[in-house]
Amino acid sequence: MSAIIKLEKKHFPVLLNELISIISPLYGGTFIDCTFGQGGYSKKILENSKNKIIAIDRDTDVYLSANELEKKYKNKFKFKNIKFSQINNLNIVKEDIKGIVFDLGYSINQIRDLKKGLSFKSKGKLDMRMGINDFTCHDVISNLSENNLNKIFKFFGDEKYSKNIARKIVKMRGLKLINTEDLVEIIESVKKFNNPKINKSTKVFQALRIFVNKEISELINGLVNAFKILPVGGVMVVVSFHSLEDKIVKFFFKHYSENKNTSRYIPNKKNNFKCFNLIKKKPITPSLEEIKINPPSRSSKLRYGIKISDNCNFNEFKQKFKYLTDIENLGINI
Ligand SMILES: C[S@@+](CC[C@H](N)C(=O)[O-])C[C@H]1O[C@@H](n2cnc3c(N)ncnc32)[C@H](O)[C@@H]1O
Repeated sequence: MSAIIKLEKKHFPVLLNELISIISPLYGGTFIDCTFGQGGYSKKILENSKNKIIAIDRDTDVYLSANELEKKYKNKFKFKNIKFSQINNLNIVKEDIKGIVFDLGYSINQIRDLKKGLSFKSKGKLDMRMGINDFTCHDVISNLSENNLNKIFKFFGDEKYSKNIARKIVKMRGLKLINTEDLVEIIESVKKFNNPKINKSTKVFQALRIFVNKEISELINGLVNAFKILPVGGVMVVVSFHSLEDKIVKFFFKHYSENKNTSRYIPNKKNNFKCFNLIKKKPITPSLEEIKINPPSRSSKLRYGIKISDNCNFNEFKQKFKYLTDIENLGINI
């Protein structure tokens, strides 16, 4: 699993030209930007005067960019500080929704904000909250059992040394409060050998960010609830950044767009309705030119589908990834 996050100094919206060429045939309506961030996608879509944007982000730190667009575009731009899993509660009336866009992951501003503690380069208390959270990373490290920490590192980080790292955390927390530097030290002491291309702490930090922000449940519920409010003919576009995200997005589009099953282990669909028309089966990836300007974009993948039916039931989708959402639902006694 690659575990790359955007670390470039300047903000480059990823796969922007590709996104625009997919949605522009539908211009002349409202687009929902589920991951507003620094507004790269929203700004570009609003350059066409026929378009409107409803933007969502769970992080209140994006208010500055959102306020700027609200002033500039008045009734053409609205911002809501909610999680995208709640998209179906937006109470959208009289909007001609043409497309819903997700650009998963973290913005460069979030990674560089050391008080958010998302990066192993941060100092002090372990936090990792993106916005609208129930607990911090500190709560996770201080309260979860060794077995549950192991599960998080293994399933969300694909970390080979998950067991030993979990054991060492539990041992150390009996002696002192574990902060970011301590966690990095634990990981480095356990992982004697590592792929020189990625930092030893990358996988464990990715796993903890996913757990703290419930990213898997957010993604699954976000996709299902976005589908509910998208009219037939509208487009759903998702840009993912790591293999776990892409696995979920790929299943969502492929399983509900073909008559055959994506997995031979899943029984035949009873109500075998197609929900999407997939123009491209393979994901769209950045050009060499984009990777040169913005190297972290290399791990991004864009998938999209045109909604062709309202008659869809996503139980199989939810069931397939229940082993992951169950981990996110582990209780924390704070
Ligand atoms: C990669 S950035 C988006 C960048 C944006 N496309 C741009 O061009 O500026 C991802 C954003 O999604 C937000 N986000 C992540 N998960 C979210 C969720 N479940 N609900 C709402 N916002 C979320 C993050 O706070 C972050 O600002």
